[in-house]
Parts: sequence; structure tokens; C-alpha cells
Amino acid sequence: MEIIHVSAECYPVAKAGGLGDVVGALPKYQNELGHIAKVVMPMYKTKFLINNEWDVVHKGRTNIGDYWFDYTIIKERTNKLGFDLYLVDINGLLDREKVYGYDDDTERFTAFQVAVVDWISVWAHHPDIIHVHDHHTGFIPFIIKYCYKYQHLQGIRTVLTIHNAQYQGTMDWEKSYLLPPWDSWKWGMLDWQNNINPLASAIKCAWKVTTVSKSYLEEMRQSANGLEALFEYEKGKCSGILNGIDVDVWDPSTDTYIENHYNVETVAEGKEQSKKLLCERFNLDIEKPLIVFIGRLVGEKGADILPAAIADSFYYIGRRMNFLILGSGFPEVEAQLNGLQRLSQGDYSVFIGYNEALSHLMYAGADFLLMPSRVEPCGLNQMYSMRYGTIPMVRRTGGLKDTVVDYGEKDGYGIVYNWAAVGDITQGIWRAVQLYENKDRVQEVREQMMKIDFSWQQSVKQYIALYESILPREEALKTDEPETGESEADEPAEEKSI
Ligand code: ADP
Ligand code: GLC
Repeated sequence: MEIIHVSAECYPVAKAGGLGDVVGALPKYQNELGHIAKVVMPMYKTKFLINNEWDVVHKGRTNIGDYWFDYTIIKERTNKLGFDLYLVDINGLLDREKVYGYDDDTERFTAFQVAVVDWISVWAHHPDIIHVHDHHTGFIPFIIKYCYKYQHLQGIRTVLTIHNAQYQGTMDWEKSYLLPPWDSWKWGMLDWQNNINPLASAIKCAWKVTTVSKSYLEEMRQSANGLEALFEYEKGKCSGILNGIDVDVWDPSTDTYIENHYNVETVAEGKEQSKKLLCERFNLDIEKPLIVFIGRLVGEKGADILPAAIADSFYYIGRRMNFLILGSGFPEVEAQLNGLQRLSQGDYSVFIGYNEALSHLMYAGADFLLMPSRVEPCGLNQMYSMRYGTIPMVRRTGGLKDTVVDYGEKDGYGIVYNWAAVGDITQGIWRAVQLYENKDRVQEVREQMMKIDFSWQQSVKQYIALYESILPREEALKTDEPETGESEADEPAEEKSI
């Protein structure tokens, strides 16, 4: 089966968070199962672009409203990522250094999506599945179904994966002219609460909708930044498929970002060596447990309460642990975290910014990884940390709830607390300090976590089964696995605007 992933991010080309990691890994594992999975993403100005060789595979011209533009599709020459990678070059719109954060992001990502569909519309064949990720690619199911110019693509099955429903790409109806001419009776398929909402549109128009953990799917019916009713209404076509991790990239025995490799047998020494490097570099005390946070410094991640939780922990528990923070985000949180540095007694440090190499060293050298997320659709950090023998300290939500079991429970291995609140985090830190004193138990937990299978194996099979359930019957029969569903593919929800 041929699957086209369309995404704003893909590791190692461009990554702002977990979306990049997932789109950089899932297609590779789909290919390993014998399918043809490809990735299409914008051509940003990245190191990966400069350091690799490309072939031009298509040149086209299309428009968003009365802005006409040329676009070029280039393909990475060697297939080194384990899948065909295509970049869409739109001069002046996409070729910038950052992935997001520009005033014209709406125009940029709309142009990207129109160019992708325009390119696919000239293919001699149709791919089986177009798999779109998050709101930046959320118009594609609508464009394929309802834009007159692309009506011949209508039969292509589309799947949306929601990595984060907090961000929806909402725009004013005044911008509807950006889309290629469409059947105006279908305005409801774009609308949510009197705005154009690309994420809501994709939920309505895609044949299937997935999100990245089962618990997050449940939670979205109660809390999804205004889309709760839509999830309730469309629950029949929604499912939760837990992300895996790229076990080739995230492997402490081969990780190219760390010097001291280790495996489950050598975890104690291996971690100690990486911890030493971190402690030297950030002036921390190697004798104390090292608790780290890696992530976007935003409310979703509970980053705003980190400074208070750290200050309270030092006050109530004493100077019995080190903290090291890596991240960037809200300026006020960055300032508070920088401010704490003045109070450090060789037990606190922060690195504001994005640093892939440092993150790997931190997963390897830390004893504990803190994730007090308010919202966590899946979360990859906790899985990386467990693979590196670092004990996760997570709030019981979304994918964190589905992947971490408290060490106090039967066969448990992490520290789990109920609320993203200073008291709960501090209590978790107290438990970490206690646990750290019991070296045998720490060793046991490390070994246990490192043996957990967080690979993509199971999830990839679930995605393939999901695609098969919507393929036209004769296509499904052509694939290896027997079809298990009913005789006809499920139709996507039809013509409703709520
Ligand atoms: P999200 O996508 O919501 O940010 P995830 O847990 O799915 O959260 O993925 C975050 C990814 O981004 C992980 O690979 C993590 O290591 C990485 N990451 C986040 N912030 C930084 C940073 N400042 N420097 C390096 N890597 C980071
Ligand atoms: C999002 C979510 C995160 C998830 C990632 C990959 O950024 O916030 O929880 O792990 O996407 O699916």
C-alpha cells in the first residue's frame, strides 16, 4: 500500500517537538513492513537541506487567492532516512529558518497544502492513503473532497493524526479565498464556532482520525480547546494509537550524541559517566540525584510551575538533589528559570534554547526526568528516558498515564502524581530523593524500564489495519493481511455541519 505522510515537521530535517520525531520514524517502520510510505514537507532553510543532495521531481504553478506562485518538489537522492522524502519549495513563503512563528503562517501552510494536492493531482496513479498530521495539513481532506479542481482525487482515503488538539490553526472566514474554489454548500465542513478551523475540518472530512494515545482520546471529549463536542460527535471514526520511539536513534548503546555507551548490563557505569559530564559542565554535585526537565517551556508542559516547584523543593526537602533544565518558550518562564540560577548552591542549572545533543546527554546522564504536563497527548520524553534507564516523574495524564506505572504499584517503575500543581511535583521530588537512596531498587527499576518495548512494531500494525479498514475492498484484498472488517469500507461522516 502507498502512504503519503504530509507534515510540517520531520526529524532530522526539521523538528520543533515530538511531531518531527514521529513523522521521521513511523514511515520508516511502515516501509519495513513492505509498504511504500513517503513523507512530504515544506522546504525550510535547514542544515539538512544544505548537507544533502536533491533531485527536482516536479515543478508546478498554483495559487492561494489571487497570489500565484511557482512551486518545486525536490526529493532526497539517497533514501537515507528509510523512506522517500519530498520537500515543497515555495520561494519566499516556506524557505525560512524556523518552522513556525511567522505572521503569515496561515498563508504559508495553506500554500504548502495546495501545492501538495496540486502535485498529487498530476500523478499517473493515486496513492492509497494520504495521512495528514495536525492542523498545518488539516485542509487536505477538505481540498480533496470539495475543491472542484481536484475532484478526480475524491476517492483517495485520508487519515488525520492529532498530535496536539490545543493548536487548531483557526482563521477568520475572510481568509476563505485562500482555498481553491470549493463547493460553497460545504462551508460547514470548514467551520467551527464561526471561524475556519483546519483541525476541525480535518476531523470532519478525513476518513479516520487518530490521536497518539488512548487516554488522550478520552480526555479530548472533555477538554480539547473547544472541540469537545466535535470529538463526541465523531467518536465513531476516532481511535488512539500510542506512538512508538525510533529505537535506532534512541539507543544508549549506539547513540551518536553520547560518548559513553551502555546497555542494560552496564547501565550503572554508563549513566554515571554521562552524569559526570553533565555535572562538570553545569557545575552540579554528582553525589546527589540529578532531576532534569527537557521540553517546551509552555503551560501545557507545566513549565510555568517549575520554578516554584524547584524553589519549594529546596526549601522543604533541602539541598538534596540537582536540577538541570533544557528548554525554551514563554519569556517569563525562561526569566524565572534563569533567575533561580542565582540561588544555586552547585545544584541547579538551566540551558535556555533547543539543543538536540544536550538532550541526548541528559536522557543518558540524568537519574530522573520530570514531566508535570497539564496536557500530554503522548509524550516521547518519558519513553526516551526509560530506554536510557532514567526514571520518569510524570503527571497522570494522556500518554504519560498510558506508559508509566508508579513504582509503588505492582511491577511499577516510575513516579506518578495526579495534578500539575506545585505540591504534587514537590511530593514527587521527595519520593525521588527517597528512592535514590535505595541503590538496589534504582538499579532494579532501571533494568526493568530498559527492557520495555516502546518500539513502533505494534503501533505500525495498528495504523496499517486502520488504513486497510478504509481502502476500497479490492485494494484491501490485494494487501498481505486478510481484511477483518465488514464488506464495505466505512464511509466518513457525511455532509454535516455542527
Ligand atoms: P512535544 O512534541 O509536545 O514538545 P514530545 O514529548 O512528544 O513533546 O516530544 C518532544 C521532543 O522534543 C523530544 O524529542 C524532546 O527531546 C525534544 N525537545 C523538546 N525541547 C527540546 C530542547 N529544548 N532541546 C532539545 N530537544 C528538545
Ligand atoms: C505533540 C504532543 C506530544 C506528542 C507529540 C508526538 O507535540 O504534545 O505529547 O508526543 O505530539 O505525537
